[in-house]
Amino acid sequence: METILSVEDLHVSYGAIRALRGVSLKVPKGQIVAILGANGAGKTTLLKCISGMVPSQQGRVVHNNLDITAVAVEKITDAGISHAPEGRQIFADMTVLENLKIGGFTVKNIQVKGENIPNNIRTKRIKALIHQNGEDALIHLNKAEALKYNLRRVYSLFPVLEERQNQVASTLSGGEMQMLAIGRALMGNPNLLILDEPSLGLAPLIVKNIFEVIKGLKALGISVLIVEQNALQTLKIADYAYVLQLGKVVNEGKAATLIKDEALIEAYLGK
Ligand SMILES: Nc1ncnc2c1ncn2[C@@H]1O[C@H](COP(=O)(O)OP(=O)(O)O)[C@@H](O)[C@H]1O
Ligand SMILES: [Mg+2]
Repeated sequence: METILSVEDLHVSYGAIRALRGVSLKVPKGQIVAILGANGAGKTTLLKCISGMVPSQQGRVVHNNLDITAVAVEKITDAGISHAPEGRQIFADMTVLENLKIGGFTVKNIQVKGENIPNNIRTKRIKALIHQNGEDALIHLNKAEALKYNLRRVYSLFPVLEERQNQVASTLSGGEMQMLAIGRALMGNPNLLILDEPSLGLAPLIVKNIFEVIKGLKALGISVLIVEQNALQTLKIADYAYVLQLGKVVNEGKAATLIKDEALIEAYLGK
């Protein structure tokens, strides 16, 4: 199976604090991989180091066969890694639509199968190309078209964001804010989506809804690396999981196997 991301023997310290002590993991293309672990285990540090926000002292991060260790954040985004950070960090004074547009800011152009382009964004030019080359041919979308395409995709995943597109983000509910954070990351048209505790502070029903959408991203060909304290819900949608404890991987396995491990679930049930 092709690997989209591999982390090899990663070490990260904050001064004297050793947050990661030799972490290795793989994300196979098209799969959902989970990192489980208690507060302080090093989960956020791991994600930040992958997306270039925190430097490592040792080890490598490889994305699509390219070494991205110590590569600048913008270059990593350009390569197709989008990170929806812990605590959502959306722009509270801006509208939903403005927040989403910021997420799509770095997208230059994309290639999409004609059949996947919704009717309401097919311009004359796009229609002519599809007519000429068939619905299953790849169509090059320019920056403006790509923005519309990505926006349609986010709105079809999270219809509530379209209903509230002109609403100021600070007035959203917690669940809607999380949807906006994920939507904003998807606006960058990632091949790998990184999610840091999307379920934090949300009601169970909302968590279920958001996790269903995350599971659905596989059908769009997006690989997912998700960090969670909520082990049970996460293992239901993940293919594979790693358990992180004090900066080290202490357990790993197929999600379907780990979910039957009562001691593990007990330890990481999440509150
Ligand atoms: N900016 C920082 N400066 C110093 N220590 C930090 C910083 N960020 C995280 N840490 C420490 O690194 C360890 C791992 O933190 P973190 O990666 O946030 O874990 P998690 O996301 O699993 O809760 C913790 O001991 C935390 O206190
Ligand atoms: Mg964290």
